Amino acid sequence: MRNTLRVLWLVLFSRTCCSHLTFPLKLFAGKFNSSVDLDLTPLQKKNATSGGLSLASDPTGQVNFLDMLGNLNGDSGRGYYIEMLIGTPPQTLNILVDTGSSNFAVAGARDPYISRFFNSSLSSTYWPSGRTVSVRYTQGSWVGELGTDLISITKGTISAITINIATILSSEGFFLPGVKWQGILGLAYPVLARPDSSVTPFFNSVVRQTGIPDIFSLQMCGAGVSGGSDADAARGSLIMGGIEPLLYQGSVWYTPVKEEWYYQVEILKLEVGNQNLNLDCKQYNADKAIVDSGTTLLRLPQDVFRAVVDAIVREALIQDFSDGFWTGTKLACWMKGETPWPFFPKISIYLRAMNASQSFSITILPQLYIQPITEVGNALECYRFGISSSSSGLVIGATVMEGFYVIFDRALSRVGFALSTCAGSSGSPVSEIAGPFSALDVSSDCVSVPVLQEPVLWIISYALMGVCAIALLVLIILLLLPCRCRRGDDPGEITDASSLVRNRFK
Ligand SMILES: *[C@@H]1O[C@H](CO)[C@@H](O)[C@H](O)[C@H]1NC(C)=O
Ligand SMILES: *[C@@H]1O[C@H](CO)[C@@H](O)[C@H](O)[C@H]1NC(C)=O
Ligand SMILES: *[C@@H]1O[C@H](CO)[C@@H](O)[C@H](O)[C@H]1NC(C)=O
Ligand SMILES: *[C@@H]1O[C@H](CO)[C@@H](O)[C@H](O)[C@H]1NC(C)=O
Repeated sequence: MRNTLRVLWLVLFSRTCCSHLTFPLKLFAGKFNSSVDLDLTPLQKKNATSGGLSLASDPTGQVNFLDMLGNLNGDSGRGYYIEMLIGTPPQTLNILVDTGSSNFAVAGARDPYISRFFNSSLSSTYWPSGRTVSVRYTQGSWVGELGTDLISITKGTISAITINIATILSSEGFFLPGVKWQGILGLAYPVLARPDSSVTPFFNSVVRQTGIPDIFSLQMCGAGVSGGSDADAARGSLIMGGIEPLLYQGSVWYTPVKEEWYYQVEILKLEVGNQNLNLDCKQYNADKAIVDSGTTLLRLPQDVFRAVVDAIVREALIQDFSDGFWTGTKLACWMKGETPWPFFPKISIYLRAMNASQSFSITILPQLYIQPITEVGNALECYRFGISSSSSGLVIGATVMEGFYVIFDRALSRVGFALSTCAGSSGSPVSEIAGPFSALDVSSDCVSVPVLQEPVLWIISYALMGVCAIALLVLIILLLLPCRCRRGDDPGEITDASSLVRNRFK
């Protein structure tokens, strides 16, 4: 068994080759300019349905979810996007769906990698606010102008909503070769909006103006679809205002949103092939664990990543696996028809259930994390490893989300997972969900302790810096005293350590 599989290696040598495969679209703080206030045109508020969910089968539901089915295109590598009509008369653009940021931004000028852009001077309903905004992601950044305009969604009943739009006037590494979208729809909470949370995010505006329930859900259907092919591009659905029963089977398991900025969740345990990794649960949540449709891979904190790779290597029935495969610089190629999936283990993520003393598990099969990427000739199919290491927390990205129908229930501050009806490969499911499990063997809080430790560490490091500075000062005075007698020079400036501090922010 061990030696029967022939693995061939394809080295990914060029950056352009791989860069379009990943989008760790993660925000960090942009510049804050509080001198201008954005004036949204008065919003008409309709009656919201009474807190509950409206289902497609509910005849009183205000939203017809069936209209929204299949409103997404794309794949995990280049992102899932939705078609929108922006401005008056409408300009049609494709917009990336990103639950890891909170700005709505569209290309507002030509760019070599995109085919269309939004020309705000052609829209009679566009109002510039006079503010500029810049947003940086781990990959790429842009600078634009803030304004408001009317938008509609081509497939669905959302129409003529006034939203904040940033028109991107210059960008770096944001639009990538091969992408089919020209803008980004940030669906996270207002606190992440740039330049500040007064720039109401898209979905908050939709809920306020239409009265739909404060909930949206995502089904992304790229599991097993080769990233290299355009013909069989995956589809998906972004359901705004509720849950569509056609998109999942079995029950929905919910985990609380720990803090409303990203969709931050609490991970209690990881298993590879039913073996508990047995790490301290705080390591899984360092420095946060989030659910992000704008990130391609499952990203794991470095030590968790190493433990997962070690466990996969132990479990997988393949010898001499190249390191480059795990670090993402090599593809593994197999003869067509000789799929590698039977040789790899399942990976399970245990999330805190709404009952804090319980958990549930979401499990991805190798079909989701050993991803077909490209064909070489007629004989080979090449795969990449759908998990990468991260220095900014754990990210449940598209690799995992493609196995599930994921419900962002903002009204009740929770994220739900259910088996997706499109997560199958040749008829057999590629994901599993199970629960409840007792969480009594796990710490009652896997999230907040490192946050408490951090100020303590800072106090210690400042104290040490102070001691060093004093010692240095004494040393310099001692050194300069004789010089002063000779030449009367000034003691040189002591450089402080603020650059250390400046370079470190969340
Ligand atoms: C903030 O906005 C005001 C008004 O548009 C502008 O004059 C100022 O230069 C801006 N400040 C920064 C730091 O961008
Ligand atoms: C909103 O609900 C109230 C009370 O149920 C009702 O009287 C009112 O007519 C409704 N307004 C609209 C616009 O539906
Ligand atoms: C936007 O449209 C206006 C009016 O037709 C035109 O003058 C302008 O050049 C367009 N902008 C760009 C960037 O193409
Ligand atoms: C929560 O889970 C515990 C352990 O399974 C169980 O004993 C308890 O009854 C549950 N609480 C509620 C409110 O369901």
